[in-house]
Amino acid sequence: MKKRAFGKTGLNVSEIGFGAWALGGQWGGQDDQESIAALHKAIDLGCNFIDTAQLYGDGRSERVIASVLTERSEEVHVATKTPPDPILPWPPSPYCIVDERYSEKYLRKNVEARLKNLGTDCIDVLQLHTWTRAWNSDPQPLQALRKIRDEGKIRFIGISTPEQDQNSVVELMQQGWLDVVQVIYNIFEQEPAAELLPVAQETGTAVIVRVVFDEGVLTGKYNQGHRFPDGDFRSRYFAGDRVDRAVGRVKKIKEEIEDFGNPKGFSLADVALKFVLAHSAVSTVIPGIRNSLQAELNMGVSEKMDMSEELVDRLRQHYWHKGVWYGGK
Ligand SMILES: NC(=O)c1ccc[n+]([C@@H]2O[C@H](COP(=O)([O-])OP(=O)(O)OC[C@H]3O[C@@H](n4cnc5c(N)ncnc54)[C@H](OP(=O)(O)O)[C@@H]3O)[C@@H](O)[C@H]2O)c1
Repeated sequence: MKKRAFGKTGLNVSEIGFGAWALGGQWGGQDDQESIAALHKAIDLGCNFIDTAQLYGDGRSERVIASVLTERSEEVHVATKTPPDPILPWPPSPYCIVDERYSEKYLRKNVEARLKNLGTDCIDVLQLHTWTRAWNSDPQPLQALRKIRDEGKIRFIGISTPEQDQNSVVELMQQGWLDVVQVIYNIFEQEPAAELLPVAQETGTAVIVRVVFDEGVLTGKYNQGHRFPDGDFRSRYFAGDRVDRAVGRVKKIKEEIEDFGNPKGFSLADVALKFVLAHSAVSTVIPGIRNSLQAELNMGVSEKMDMSEELVDRLRQHYWHKGVWYGGK
């Protein structure tokens, strides 16, 4: 497993991390034993970075991770997230008052809950789960998190970008508020390459890339007409004709790779991961993993040859900006 610098933090993280949303049970049923086996497998294969959140099963994902880490001797870095309180509207509206969503009192209480679930006395990375640029001129929650960090309960501070306006955090990065940003960047969503990723490089902000498979579709495993069960968040994300439209575009990506010759024998999932890793601003990419096989397949990609600049260039043509899908139809 190759490691990369995690911005200016001094941490070195595995270039492939573990996205632990599905472990919370919101992607259809999830057996904790399967989650535990997947985490062990990923760590066995050199993964030392896991991303989770309170909202992933109301702490269930965090607690499963904690149970595994107590059995391991390796140093594994965990990033978790605090949602606004109340959770809705998501993303925050331009009129939301920051102190009514992320007050210092609430953040302090929430950090204590994260520490308890993770079974630790210091959180490696605490990310605010969403944001609005309306708060940039007076980012009080980041000020509060700095105080909590100085008290020794958090090592590094981050924001997970609001999917509809990822560039809203750029100004905060430039002003030095953030150690870490978490961003959607994949073969479809390439907008961060325009501004956010170059700014991350200039400022030494660590970059966690989420949704590398566009919620699974970029692995090529879904066909036209595929339907996700109720209870799987993707039944909303891929509502109406969205699976069909996405699958049509994935077919074109597949044809592109075949036309190129695919000398390295990449699967579509490999291609999706290598495309993201080809950008040097990326510290770690966190594919969503829910079983040992996915852990093995995804961690194994680090050892494969890097993607040629020529293929990266061809894949850039498959850019498709559609972040507004998160609210469902
Ligand atoms: N706002 C936020 O901060 C936010 C939002 C979204 C995600 N995240 C984080 O980012 C992580 C990754 O995003 P994501 O899980 O939403 O989406 P993703 O990584 O784009 O897709 C994950 C899904 O792809 C499938 N998959 C994984 N590896 C595969 C492989 N090798 N071959 C075939 N299929 C494979 C699995 O689908 P099946 O379920 O069908 O097996 C898996 O659940 C999350 O787990 C979470 O930690 C954060």
